[in-house]
Amino acid sequence: MSSRPTATTVSWPPLLPEAALTDLLDVSGDFPLLGRTVRGGRPLVYLDTGATSQKPAVVLDAEREFYTRHNAAVHRGAHQVAEEATEAYEAARAAVAGFVGAEVGEIVWTKNATEALNLVAYGFLNASLGRGGDAAERFRLNEGDEIVVTELEHHANLVPWQELAAKTGAALRWIPVTVEGRLDLQQLDVITERTKVVAFTHASNVTGAITDVPAVVAKAREAGAYTVLDACQSAAHLPVDFPALGVDFAVFSGHKMLAPTGVGVLYGRGELLEALPPFLTGGSMVELVTMEKTTFMPAPLRFEAGTQMVSQTVGFHAALDYLSSIGMDRMAAHEDQLTQLMLDGLAEVPGVRVLGPETAENRLAVVAFDLPGVHPHDVGQVLDDQGIAVRVGHHCAQPVHRALGVHASTRASAGVYTTAEDIEAFVRGLHTVIGFFGVRS
Ligand code: ALA
Repeated sequence: MSSRPTATTVSWPPLLPEAALTDLLDVSGDFPLLGRTVRGGRPLVYLDTGATSQKPAVVLDAEREFYTRHNAAVHRGAHQVAEEATEAYEAARAAVAGFVGAEVGEIVWTKNATEALNLVAYGFLNASLGRGGDAAERFRLNEGDEIVVTELEHHANLVPWQELAAKTGAALRWIPVTVEGRLDLQQLDVITERTKVVAFTHASNVTGAITDVPAVVAKAREAGAYTVLDACQSAAHLPVDFPALGVDFAVFSGHKMLAPTGVGVLYGRGELLEALPPFLTGGSMVELVTMEKTTFMPAPLRFEAGTQMVSQTVGFHAALDYLSSIGMDRMAAHEDQLTQLMLDGLAEVPGVRVLGPETAENRLAVVAFDLPGVHPHDVGQVLDDQGIAVRVGHHCAQPVHRALGVHASTRASAGVYTTAEDIEAFVRGLHTVIGFFGVRS
């Protein structure tokens, strides 16, 4: 559209059912940004948590406290402040390990989940180039080997594997999605004895579908393939225990789970991290450096080259403490109710097609939809006029949109701070969109 429309007032059917709203959390007051207004004084309704979450005051305070009193480079100073910074950095690592059921040495700090996925893919590439010695041979890929991904992946868990395939001569295969937007578990036979790696999402950032991880892991193990789990969407919304899920590697980012941007996590089973060649090289990850060659630190420090993002890890620690104080089970129950509210509300909006499961079962509060004949950017613009922030476009996941027969969609995604009133405002807003554009087919 060339100019912003004025949102019109429309009537709509009775909205959200009163039933089933039990024990909903209301912690939005802990998040300073959520108190602001947008677009001429409208209260902000933030439904873009799938892209990035808002931050509670405790996270902002933790970062400020770090810079006010403890800022120094970690693992490279003998002075008191450097010791304090290093302790804070390592305490945050221990907090992450506890949060996902891992050992401390199995947690690697990265800048984000995308870097963590690239770290694994480049580790395999470097092993395929003969780096990392005999221990790394287990990661070598050759022509004839296969890498399996899924049609549900966002680009961060697809493009690095395409690149790895192109560089090693391995073939890329994928598990398709069902019309409901779930992984098609009937098609797991794409994983064969030729498969070296299976990289798959724990929960889709488009359809919200939660993957049956044990089913995929069992098939991958039978084939002798390594598993890489993208937990970007799940870690913030569900209790996760990577060793219990049985995956070899897993990644997630801080910014989607109430922590600052610029920090992510790679989990790797201890024996695998010990054998995987490094990705980024330079200072802080080395033991002995001569002009001819270098020996590397053990994991996890072998994967943490350069000056690290310490304040972000401290903020991450505060975010995990905050989430733990609420309880991940309680949070998941809260978000299940929000999912149900969203699905019920969308079912009342004429013409809407939800891209993903139509029930809240095994599903996150990430709901993308198509409004035939209305471009998602126009939907987003009319919602934005009402103070409602959603994501529009392909959400960095073009293949799943193509598989579901659309180029783009509008996506509302909730978090711990989302309230029933937010969902109600969103559903009302969509009725306004319909009032503005009409229903098309
Ligand atoms: N995964 C990010 C999102 O869903 C790109 O918005």
